[in-house]
Amino acid sequence: MLCLALETSCDDTAAAVFNGSTLLAQATASQTIHTDWGGVVPELASRAHQQAIWPTVQQALRQADKSLKDIELVAYTQGPGLLGALLVGQTFAKGVALGLNIPLLGINHMQAHVLANFIEEPHPPFPFLCLTVSGGHTQLVAVHGPLAMQVLGQTKDDAAGEAFDKCAKMLGLPYPGGPLIDNLAATGNPLAFTFPIAQMPGLHYSFSGLKTAVLRFIEPRGTAFIEANLADVCASLQYTIVQTLLAKLARAATETGFMHIALAGGVAANAGLRHGLAKLAETKGWHTYIPQLAYCTDNAAMVGMAAHFAWQAGRQGTLADVAFTTHDQAPAGLAFITSW
Ligand code: KG4
Ligand code: ZN
Repeated sequence: MLCLALETSCDDTAAAVFNGSTLLAQATASQTIHTDWGGVVPELASRAHQQAIWPTVQQALRQADKSLKDIELVAYTQGPGLLGALLVGQTFAKGVALGLNIPLLGINHMQAHVLANFIEEPHPPFPFLCLTVSGGHTQLVAVHGPLAMQVLGQTKDDAAGEAFDKCAKMLGLPYPGGPLIDNLAATGNPLAFTFPIAQMPGLHYSFSGLKTAVLRFIEPRGTAFIEANLADVCASLQYTIVQTLLAKLARAATETGFMHIALAGGVAANAGLRHGLAKLAETKGWHTYIPQLAYCTDNAAMVGMAAHFAWQAGRQGTLADVAFTTHDQAPAGLAFITSW
């Protein structure tokens, strides 16, 4: 089954071609127009998706040495994400399905992030825990099967990537600031400054207080101090975010007894998080899995992987399917399970 997979939930227009569970090609057009605004502007994202989607699909097809008429299934991100951005991918996918008279599959973006762990070997065995950390989401997921995922905890406000990006902006760094903080942190002292860790109930997270704490830290010291101590500030900030993420991950592992731990989402690229996870895994005896960077950030290969599992399970979408913006609005077939 030759599948064309599309991802347009935020600011990356991506297409991938799969033959069954094998990735043949993937192409991504990342939008740069948002840099000047310090964050993703939804309307600009939708317009950029409209311009990029067909060239990106053509690029993926060329790389796979296939043409559109070879495609037998079209999969796309149905949500969660920015509505206007999602609609571009969904409408394109519906057009392809209608034009070629082939089946259509909507995919949950957050489940696709988790399933990015299956694009390459070795993949985690079920059940496993996945910490999905991106610019839009921070979720601790118990993965019982490819389509049976349970959210154990999530952020009540900002996502971890958002915390990186917004703190970076306050420090005078351009968007997206996560990778820049990561680079600067490499030469800084993580214990130079102390930032608060929000105490949330259960396995939940909160990162909005950290933004306020960073603002209160910068204000009395001024920009000259920040510039002179930038590496130490970034290292301390990164240390705080990573410790917050890992503390709840360790608690989730203890509570579930799961020994296989995976990462997903753009923040999985963070060196501090990777190093911290590796150290923790050594003491706990965990087996860890981190997809390569191209499959951690938003991409269409993860959508194709999720489509493979969904198709195998007999799922099929319709032309009447509606895009959804938040986790809670996912339709029954695409929702996370609430208990196990
Ligand atoms: O998964 P992703 O590409 O898009 C979303 O679905 O949000 O994640 C992007 C996020 C941004 O917030 C970006 O700053 C963050 O991932 N990020 C990083 C690193 N690389 C990307 N954060 C910290 N350290 C990094 N190395
Ligand atoms: Zn994402």
